[in-house]
Amino acid sequence: MQYAAFLGHQPLISIAELSASIEDFSLVKVLDNRVAIFDTAQDLDQEFLDTLGGIVVLAKQVTEEDLSLDDIHKVLTNEIGSKRGKVTFSLRTHNIPRDAIATLYRRCKKSLKGQGRPCRYVGSEKKPAPPIVLFDSELIEGKDGCELVILGIQEDDSSRLWIGRTVGAQDINWYSFRDMEKPVRDTTIGLLPPKLAQILLNFGEFLTRETRNQKLETSKQKGELALTIYDPFCGTGVILMEALLREWDILASDIAKKAVTGCTKNLDWLRKEEKILKKDVSSEIWKQDATKPFDLKDPPDVIVTETTLGPPITNRLPMKEVAKLKTQNEKLQEQFLENAAATLPGVPIVCAWPVWKQKGGWIHLDKVWKVIDKLGYRPSLPPEVGLEIPGRMSLFYRRKDQFVGREIVMLMPPRARH
Ligand SMILES: C[S@@+](CC[C@H](N)C(=O)[O-])C[C@H]1O[C@@H](n2cnc3c(N)ncnc32)[C@H](O)[C@@H]1O
Repeated sequence: MQYAAFLGHQPLISIAELSASIEDFSLVKVLDNRVAIFDTAQDLDQEFLDTLGGIVVLAKQVTEEDLSLDDIHKVLTNEIGSKRGKVTFSLRTHNIPRDAIATLYRRCKKSLKGQGRPCRYVGSEKKPAPPIVLFDSELIEGKDGCELVILGIQEDDSSRLWIGRTVGAQDINWYSFRDMEKPVRDTTIGLLPPKLAQILLNFGEFLTRETRNQKLETSKQKGELALTIYDPFCGTGVILMEALLREWDILASDIAKKAVTGCTKNLDWLRKEEKILKKDVSSEIWKQDATKPFDLKDPPDVIVTETTLGPPITNRLPMKEVAKLKTQNEKLQEQFLENAAATLPGVPIVCAWPVWKQKGGWIHLDKVWKVIDKLGYRPSLPPEVGLEIPGRMSLFYRRKDQFVGREIVMLMPPRARH
């Protein structure tokens, strides 16, 4: 089956997330860094999209025929089927001229009316309907209509259309609810967006799968374990809230008592909101310095953590200060990784490190790579993901308005000796 995903504001990270989340992901084409077309045998739907942080809209191909814009109204009629009552439709396009989109809307409406079917559309040639309108109009489940996705694909000297139907969209209201309504928000430690937390967790799931596959190959064990996530720099617990929604068991710790209390409150709140009982999904939160030995009865499947980004920064800092922060941070990362290698061996790690904006570019951590190498961790990326920065096996998340970005690093544990 072929799908098209409208990518978030960091296209490479969005593609990496798709690759990490879909075992048989096969990238076909990326259009202008905005839309990724890919193959998979899996049936992807809204429930799947709800677990992704980096995809705005997901569409499934409805026909492989070589159709033209003149055929779109027929495809729409076909997709709407024999539904009774007033139907709603919408069009989402890429690389289709604006006047052609306007004509398409008119033509589709006229064609449906011609069949005696009352209809209306959402979105326009200027802007497609925002996801919230798709939900309100019930276009995703297809109850009252559907949204068609039409992509203009240029190939050498020829062009063709990719035609699909929207099967999932980002539920912005639900994101803002859990982000803004949670009882504890701490702006002094930097606010991790829930979407980025989901992306990190998907990378964590990917590393777990890879680690298990390697173990299975060597020990021929069978059977799946339940997923347990550990965030040793948990702060207010944004990563763990997202893990809770996936029904993954949770381990969390932080050096600050305030964070332990905050994380506990946030998780309890979300449990109540979503009726997730402790007997179904466990969570344990305690105070601990992540550079001091971990003493866990059972190791987690994966560590997923933002680590510490240092103090909040609202301006570009003088280079001298950045150099100081960098030295401090390198030290902390080194001590944490040495501790993890010693007391949680065999556990893969997804972590985010700070990257500071400077006049001449971004300042990344350096020395920590030597530590990774010394400890035998293997930096990884999901398949089909190229390096954004030559020589750095990582992904780089930044926002225009922020002075500290995040470098996302995925570490497979050292290979077990036999
Ligand atoms: C950037 S925040 C993490 C934010 C978190 N992702 C959230 O959702 O709020 C970093 C956290 O690391 C904690 N921290 C700093 N040094 C630590 C250490 N040595 N061991 C454990 N936690 C530490 C801080 O107290 C802070 O809560």
